[in-house]
Amino acid sequence: MDLIGKIAVITGVSKGIGEALCQQLLAEGCTVFGLGRNNFKSSVENYTFISTDVRNVEEVNTAFETILKEHSHIDILINNAGLGYFGNVDDLPLKEWDEMMQTNVNGMFYCTRLAVPVMKKNGFGHIINIASTAGLEGMPMVSGYCATKWAVKGFSESLWRELRDFKIKVTCVYPGSVKTDFFRNSPNITPHDYMLMPEDVANMMVYALKTPDNFHQVNLEVRPLQPKGPKSN
Ligand SMILES: NC(=O)c1ccc[n+]([C@@H]2O[C@H](COP(=O)([O-])OP(=O)(O)OC[C@H]3O[C@@H](n4cnc5c(N)ncnc54)[C@H](OP(=O)(O)O)[C@@H]3O)[C@@H](O)[C@H]2O)c1
Repeated sequence: MDLIGKIAVITGVSKGIGEALCQQLLAEGCTVFGLGRNNFKSSVENYTFISTDVRNVEEVNTAFETILKEHSHIDILINNAGLGYFGNVDDLPLKEWDEMMQTNVNGMFYCTRLAVPVMKKNGFGHIINIASTAGLEGMPMVSGYCATKWAVKGFSESLWRELRDFKIKVTCVYPGSVKTDFFRNSPNITPHDYMLMPEDVANMMVYALKTPDNFHQVNLEVRPLQPKGPKSN
C-alpha cells in the first residue's frame, strides 16, 4: 500500500524519532500534522505544525479540531511524544513522575480518543504507539518510566483487539536504546553509535504503515544487536 495523500498526525516532532518519521512520511507523500511544543522545520510543503503540549487536553482538542476542519479523515496517528526520568524510587520527584505519566500515557489517550471516531467512520486507520523495551521488562532506577511504557503496552494490546473489526490497525513499537536527546536526563548515558538510529526506527514504522490492509504488525521489538559495540576476543 502506498502512503501518498494519507493524512498523518505525529506527536513530538522537534527531534529524534518523531522528526525522522515526519521527514520520511513527507517523502512518502503524506500530508503531515506535527503536534508538539517545538517544531523541527518551519515551512515544508504538506506539513503543518500545531503548537500542542500533549499533556494539555484543551490544546490536543483544539489541534484535532483544526485538522478536522481541513480534512474529513485522519489515516495515521503516531503517539511518539515522550520522555524519561530515572533514579531510585525514593528519590523520584512527584513532578517527574507526573510529567512522565501525563506525557507518555495521558497524551497518548487524549490523541487516540479523538482519532479513533474519524478512523471508524472512514473504515481505515493505523495507530502506532511508541513504547520501549522498558515496557517489556522492569529495570532498577527506571520504575517510573517503565510504568508509563507498560501502560502504553496495555493500552495498545487492548486497542488492537477492540479496533480490528473497524479496519483500524494498532501497532506498538518497543525500541531499545536510540541515539537521540532522550538521554538528556540520564547523566550516566551518552548517546553513541552502537545505539539504534532514529532514522532506522522511523523506516521500520514506514514499512509497517505500508503493509497490505489485512496484514497487521501488532508489535515491533527492535534492539541494537551489540549495544556496547563489538566484543573484543
Ligand atoms: N531514545 C530512546 O532510547 C528510546 C527508546 C525507546 C523508546 N523511546 C521513546 O520514543 C519516543 C521519542 O523519543 P526520542 O528518543 O525521539 O526522544 P527525544 O529526542 O527527546 O524526542 C522526544 C519528543 O517528544 C516531544 N515531547 C516531549 N514532551 C512533550 C509534550 N508534553 N508535548 C508535546 N511533545 C512533547 C519532544 O518535544 P519538545 O521539543 O517539546 O521537548 C520531542 O520532540 C518517546 O516516547 C520515548 O519514550 C525512546
